[in-house]
Amino acid sequence: MKTSYTNWQLEKDEKQIYTLNLNKPDTSANVLSQDVLIELQSILDDMKKIPARALIFQSRKKDCFIAGADVNEFSQFDQSSTAYSEALQAIQLGQHVMNSIENLPFPTFALINGHCLGGGMELALACNYRIALESSITRIGLPEVKLGIHPGFGGSVRSNRLLGVFKAMNLMLSGRTLSVNSAKRFGLIDNIISDKITGHHFSHTVNQWLDDSLNKKDSLIKKIQAQHIRPFYLSFLELNFIRPIVAYLLTRLVSKRIKKAHYPAPFELINLWQLHAGNDDFMMKKEAESVAGLITSETAQNLIRIFQLQNQLKSLAQPSKKDTEDKPIQHIHIIGGGVMGGDIAIWCVYKGFTVSIHDQANEVLANLVKRANQFFKLKLKKKHLYQSAMDRLIPDINNNGLKKADLIIEAIIENISAKQSVFKNAEQLAKSNCLFATNTSSIPLDDISQVLTDPSRLVGIHFFNPVSRMPLIEIVSSNKTSQQSKTAALQFSGLIGKLPLPVTSTPGFLVNRVLTPYLLEAMELYSEGVPAEYIDKAAKQFGMPMGPIELSDKVGLDICLSVASNLSQHQNIRVPDTLTKWVEQGRLGLKTNMGFYQYKKGKSIKNKTHYQGLSLEQISNRLMFRLFNEAVACLNEKVVENDDYLDAGIIFGTGFAPFLGGPMHYIKHQGIDEMDHTLIDLSKDYGTRFNPVMGWNTLSSVL
Ligand code: NAI
Repeated sequence: MKTSYTNWQLEKDEKQIYTLNLNKPDTSANVLSQDVLIELQSILDDMKKIPARALIFQSRKKDCFIAGADVNEFSQFDQSSTAYSEALQAIQLGQHVMNSIENLPFPTFALINGHCLGGGMELALACNYRIALESSITRIGLPEVKLGIHPGFGGSVRSNRLLGVFKAMNLMLSGRTLSVNSAKRFGLIDNIISDKITGHHFSHTVNQWLDDSLNKKDSLIKKIQAQHIRPFYLSFLELNFIRPIVAYLLTRLVSKRIKKAHYPAPFELINLWQLHAGNDDFMMKKEAESVAGLITSETAQNLIRIFQLQNQLKSLAQPSKKDTEDKPIQHIHIIGGGVMGGDIAIWCVYKGFTVSIHDQANEVLANLVKRANQFFKLKLKKKHLYQSAMDRLIPDINNNGLKKADLIIEAIIENISAKQSVFKNAEQLAKSNCLFATNTSSIPLDDISQVLTDPSRLVGIHFFNPVSRMPLIEIVSSNKTSQQSKTAALQFSGLIGKLPLPVTSTPGFLVNRVLTPYLLEAMELYSEGVPAEYIDKAAKQFGMPMGPIELSDKVGLDICLSVASNLSQHQNIRVPDTLTKWVEQGRLGLKTNMGFYQYKKGKSIKNKTHYQGLSLEQISNRLMFRLFNEAVACLNEKVVENDDYLDAGIIFGTGFAPFLGGPMHYIKHQGIDEMDHTLIDLSKDYGTRFNPVMGWNTLSSVL
C-alpha cells in the first residue's frame, strides 16, 4: 500500500497501528476539499482490506486539525441550473467518506491537534474516539449555520446520536465553537491529553489503551465506550409523538434570535431532525438534500462571500516575511483615558501588550484601573493571567510612556488644536521609529499632522465603541501617510484580533459616514410621529440586527450629535432639532437610562404600537436608501478601495444584514437602475436628501 499521497501521508508502526496525517499542500489550514476527500476515500478502500489494529487521523498543520470543508468550493455552487446536483454530489461524497471511516473493521481515533470545525468535526464524529491535545487556541464545533447551511457530512446525524438532541442542536443551531475543555465537558470529545504526546508517541499510547481494554476492566477505552452509551431519555425524545414538541420548543428559541425568511438553515435543521431522527440512513439522505438546497441559495452564497471578505481583511493584517524582521510593537502609550482611550488600553493589555496610559485628569486614570479590574476579572479566570494583565497596564499621569513607546495612540477630546499639541509634544520626545496614531472620528489627518516635521508617521486607527465587541477598525491614511506607517497599523490590528479596513482620511471615513444618514432618517421619521418601536421593527424586517433607534440610544445621542454635526459641514444632512435639544437636556440614551426609549436595568421598555401611517416597507425604504446612497458616494469618492471592502466595512462596522451580502452586493442584485429610480421617487416625496449622489450613473462599471 502506498504511504505518500498529495494530501495525506500514511504511517504504520510495528504494532500495525496506522496514522493518517493530513497536510494539504500550499495552505496554512487543512480543509476537506473534493481532492482531499477523493484521495481519502481511495486510502480507506485499501485500508479496509488490511489487518490494522487501529487508525489514527491527525494533522501536520500547526494549530489546525481540519478547519472544515472547502468554503471556496462552496462559492462555486451558485444559482445555475446544475448547481444543486453538483452540490448534492459533493456532499454525498463527503458522507460516503465519513461512512467509510465509521465502517472500518478496526478502531479509529481522531487526534485533534488544533482547530476542528465543520467538516473536520464531522470526520472526528465518524471516528470511534476523539482525543484532543491540550491547547488554549483550539476551537471545536459545528459552525456551519454561520455560512447559511448545516452539517452535511453526516454531522447532524452523528452529533445527535452522540450528544442527544438538545446538546447537538445547541451546538449546531448557534454555530458556537468550544474550547478543548468545554468540548470535553460537553461530550463532544472523549479525552484530553498532553500536547507533548503527538505523532509516533500517540500510536504507542493507543496501543497501550487497546491492550488495557483487552486486559483490564478500567481502561480508558472502556470508560469512553461507557460514556458513549446513550441514556434512555435521549431515545425517548426521538419518539414520533415527542419530536414535534421538541421541534416546536427549538423553533421558538431560534425564532427569538433570527427570522426564517432571513436565515433558513437552523429551521431546516430542526425540520430534518423532526421528520427523520432515529432513522439514520434516511436522515443522512435528507441531510445531503437539505444542505444542497441551502448551499445554492442566495443567503448561503452571501454568507460565504462575507466569510471570504473577512478572510481578505484578515490577510491585510498578516506581516510579510520582510516585515517580520522589523522590531515588533511591544509598548503602547495611549493619551486620553476616557471612554475610548480607556477601552483601547484595556483591550490592548488583554491582547498581551504593555500599555501606559496618560490622561490630564487623575480621576480618569483611577476610574480606568477599576474598569480594567472588572474586565480582566471577567475574562481572565486564572489568577496569574489576571495579575499579569493588571501589571501590564500602567497609569501614567506624568506622560513618561511617551519616550518608551513603539506606538502612541491619541484618544483625547475631538479638538484639533488639542490633538495637534499632543503630537507636537510626542514628536519631540518619542523614539524616532515610534508610530503615531489618532483615534479621531472626524478630523482629517493632514490637519492634525500640519504641526509635525514628519507627517508620514501619522495614521488613523479608528476604533468603534464598544472596543471589546466591535470586530472592525478603520485604518485611516492620507497622501502624507507613509506606506510603512499604514502597513504597521494594519499589522497591529491583526495582533489585537481586529479586522482592519483601509480608508482615506475623508470626513466620517466609511462607517460613520454611511451609518449617520440612516440614523438621522430614523430620527426624522420619529419627529413625524412614527413610533420608535415601529421604526426599529421596519429595519429589523429588512434584516438589520438592531433597529436604528435602539442603536442610536446604545451609541449615545451625544456621540450621534457630534458625528452628525461634523458631517453636516461636508454632506447634505440636517441634524434634527430633537437630537440637539435632548443632548442639551442630558437625555443621552442608554447611558442616562433615557433616550428615544426609557431603560430599566439596561433593557429598553418598548410599548405595543397601533401605528396606522406608513407601511413597514415604506419606512425601511426611507432608512435603507439613505444608507445605500451614501455608500455609493463613498465608493465613488474611493473612500475604500473597492466594493468588496465597502461591503465588508459596513457589515462588520454597522452589523448590516450579512445575509444580504452588504450594500453594494444588494444594489447589484436589486438592479442599479431600479434602485436609482426609487431614490428619485423618494426625493420627490421627501426632499433633496434623497437626490441620487454622483456615482450611480457609473456604478455598473465598478460592480
Ligand atoms: P472622552 O471625553 O470620554 O475622553 C477624552 C479624555 O481625554 C478625557 O478623559 C480627558 O480628560 C482627556 N484629555 C483631554 N485633553 C487631554 C490632553 N491634552 N491630554 C491628556 N488627556 C486629555 O472622549 P472619547 O469618547 O473617549 O473620545 C476620544 C476620541 O475618540 C475622540 O477623538 C473621539 O472622536 C474618538 N472616538 C470616539 C468614539 C466614541 O464612541 N466615543 C468612537 C470612535 C472614536
